[in-house]
Amino acid sequence: MRVLVLNGPNLNMLGTRQPEVYGPQTLADVEDRCTARGRDLGLEVTCRQSNDEAKLITWIQQASATFDAIVINPAAFSHTSIAIMDALLAVGLPAVEVHISNIHRREPFRHRSYVSQAAWGVISGFGVHGYELALDALARRHAQAQTTESQSAP
Ligand code: DQA
Repeated sequence: MRVLVLNGPNLNMLGTRQPEVYGPQTLADVEDRCTARGRDLGLEVTCRQSNDEAKLITWIQQASATFDAIVINPAAFSHTSIAIMDALLAVGLPAVEVHISNIHRREPFRHRSYVSQAAWGVISGFGVHGYELALDALARRHAQAQTTESQSAP
């Protein structure tokens, strides 16, 4: 199973950006943890980050050819981007939305995420561990789908 892990704007600044909210880990730390967790779970993980909404949309559109699932922290685009939501709905891959902070305990404008409407599940508030939780959930979903498939095979 191949999983695309996408990070949106300002997440390249993890480690120095509001560490009291987002923790001390850098984006490189997060990506290393995703790759390692993926290896443990038998997933092939590819990580990408962009501050550019158009780039994220293009990666999502292209994902259906190369990936089986998406983990996405759309960052501030969560609260503004109908276009990212539409791209996820268009490709139809299972997507897990991750937020490092608990967006529901923060300012009201962070409480709504357009992206959640296109997500299979949402993880928010578990720090950078949320990315690993997302990979765990996708691996479990994949294993369950395979069990169902083999049970219904003639
Ligand atoms: C975030 C929460 C967003 O509201 C914020 O704009 C971010 C990061 C999080 O991971 O907690 O950039 O997605």
